[in-house]
Amino acid sequence: MHLSTRSIHIGNEKDPLTGAVIPPLYLSSTFAPDGDFSQATYDYSRSGNPTRAGLEATLTSLEEGTGALAFSSGMAAIHCALQLLRTGDHVLAGTDIYGGTYRILHKILNRSGIETTLVPLNDLAAVEAAIRPNTRLIWAENPGNPLLSLVDIEALAEIAHEHDALLAVDNTFATPVGTQPLTLGADIVMHSATKFLGGHSDLLGGALVVKSQQLYKDLYFIQNATGAVMAPFDAYLCSRGIKTLEVRFREQCKSALWIAQYLVHHPAVRRVHYPGLASHPQHALAQKQLRGQFGAVVSFELDADYAAAQQFVTRTHLFQRAVSVGAVESLIEQPASMSHASYDKADRVKAGISDGLIRLSVGLEHVHDLLGDLQGAFQATVPVSVELPRLAEANHAY
Ligand SMILES: Cc1ncc(COP(=O)(O)O)c(C=O)c1O
Repeated sequence: MHLSTRSIHIGNEKDPLTGAVIPPLYLSSTFAPDGDFSQATYDYSRSGNPTRAGLEATLTSLEEGTGALAFSSGMAAIHCALQLLRTGDHVLAGTDIYGGTYRILHKILNRSGIETTLVPLNDLAAVEAAIRPNTRLIWAENPGNPLLSLVDIEALAEIAHEHDALLAVDNTFATPVGTQPLTLGADIVMHSATKFLGGHSDLLGGALVVKSQQLYKDLYFIQNATGAVMAPFDAYLCSRGIKTLEVRFREQCKSALWIAQYLVHHPAVRRVHYPGLASHPQHALAQKQLRGQFGAVVSFELDADYAAAQQFVTRTHLFQRAVSVGAVESLIEQPASMSHASYDKADRVKAGISDGLIRLSVGLEHVHDLLGDLQGAFQATVPVSVELPRLAEANHAY
């Protein structure tokens, strides 16, 4: 079955009791099964909940895994995966990763004696050189947040496995529509379900999906023991959002490419980061690994200092100034002061996340309106007028 069909039908089977096409939302925290309590499928909602289980079945299918776990947030999912590590272990992570992931690795995990090294994971020689005998995990984002760098998942999985380490891929930005990392050799796929999976800025959630049944058991044990499960109502909303994931994502990707092409030609923009541009250093890998869906996040460097960039993100109207990505509403932010403010400045600068960097999450508004909104913000900043590109050139089927 095609991914869009599975996103509607797997984990969303009709209710056998009533025939309801949409499965009911199970809010019950506890269950009173008949018969042997120890054999019951559900006994307590931290350990398992039918609404959450439906979403987990959908995610397992979309990521081609054997099991999935849904969490109260993306960070809770990351925290659970990191609990696989022991004191003395070492982690390799990409240089441009979400600020919260940087923070948990450098400011929480380090308290347990687990060290992290940041490496440009697209430089395989640098990865080999940074691996230590105690490296147990490589953490990659596909593509990286906020610079949209790509990692060759197949090559990285090979290196990780040669060294007896796991490869975890945060697939939030690519979604399974773009990449299914487990099919390329990754051991763990992670999602902030708050983003594209939910898609409507109205839930917080996270997920881990795996192929190995042992890994699933280990992660389930940690999740149940620590308790950061996704609430049933959020699981319901997420299942609802996933049904339109593919159409939303494809449309958002089209608009994002168009916006990236506009930005490339703007004289106030120093550089545009978008894997769909031929100028992206890993465009060839992106074509293969993202299967032509280059994502709905576009970053660009303004010819501006920290304060001017901070001002710029207040000048759009349709692009609302807010962190997060992946929803139907377009958002704009300055990573240095917002999504990546938790980076130590030296690491941020080393990673290339400059003060003038702006990150856009392109939603489902009409692309012409979005371009007009950006144009207005530029005109208020620098009195330069750039002709808006015509839709036909962006291969927009309107
Ligand atoms: C790539 C990425 N991973 C993980 C997270 C954390 O997810 P959450 O905010 O749902 O905890 C985010 C949040 O922005 C993110 O962008």
